[in-house]
Amino acid sequence: MARRQGRKPLLSGNWKMNHDHFKAIAVSQRLVFRLSPADYDAVEVSVHPPFTDIRSVQVLLDNDEPPLALGAQSCHWEDSGAYTGEVSPAMLSKLGVRYVIAGHSERRRYFDETDEIVRLKVAAIFRSNMTPILCVGETAEERDAGETVTRVVSQLESGLQGLEREQVAGMVVAYEPLWAIGTGRPASPSDAQAAAVAIRSAVSQRFGAAASEGLRIQYGGSVNTETSAALAEMPDVDGALVGGASLDADTFADIVVAFRKQRASRG
Ligand code: PGA
Repeated sequence: MARRQGRKPLLSGNWKMNHDHFKAIAVSQRLVFRLSPADYDAVEVSVHPPFTDIRSVQVLLDNDEPPLALGAQSCHWEDSGAYTGEVSPAMLSKLGVRYVIAGHSERRRYFDETDEIVRLKVAAIFRSNMTPILCVGETAEERDAGETVTRVVSQLESGLQGLEREQVAGMVVAYEPLWAIGTGRPASPSDAQAAAVAIRSAVSQRFGAAASEGLRIQYGGSVNTETSAALAEMPDVDGALVGGASLDADTFADIVVAFRKQRASRG
């Protein structure tokens, strides 16, 4: 098991296509109110609103200066150009966005994002000085066929292709089994740990031990207040990517606090 010292857990709220900008302000305000310096010292927290909300949340965070990180759910891979309807990494960076999700399974499934597109996005996010959260995960069929590690490592290797060791050390990978997303059936903490170990060892082979020890690995898929503490016990799981349960500020804050407390109790 890898040592986790030095890796600050990251708990990210992926709001998907929910909350207009008024609601986004209210939820962010409540979250800021609920989280304490003890939380921020121990874990990092990011929110990933829809594009139309980002400016509003940025203004709120700028004024209050809480250490809540602003995130985005996706972006294009060019800085500008004739790509109707798209948003560039450079635009997000200007808004103070720190983390951008790349290759979420909903993007892969509903918008035909291939491994190649995801790779371009990861590189573009780095170019604009932001941190990618690269999502990988297997389907139920792949899991039943015993292909979890093969699938996850192949998505991972493709997404990391061409990156420097230092970039890999500073980025985030989210293990999100498709069968656990939005189903209310989370993977067991030990399954999440096993996938995280497989990811870390693949990274170690390609990019070296320092990169694999620096890389933060989140688990995502039906994370809730009950599962958060159990996840925090897993030494290679460095946080969570939370969908549905992050839409409500109090529920998300409870998830953050449960994770932080459990981690603290383990030392
Ligand atoms: P969920 O979504 O927590 O609603 O399962 C997780 C995700 O898609 O990132």
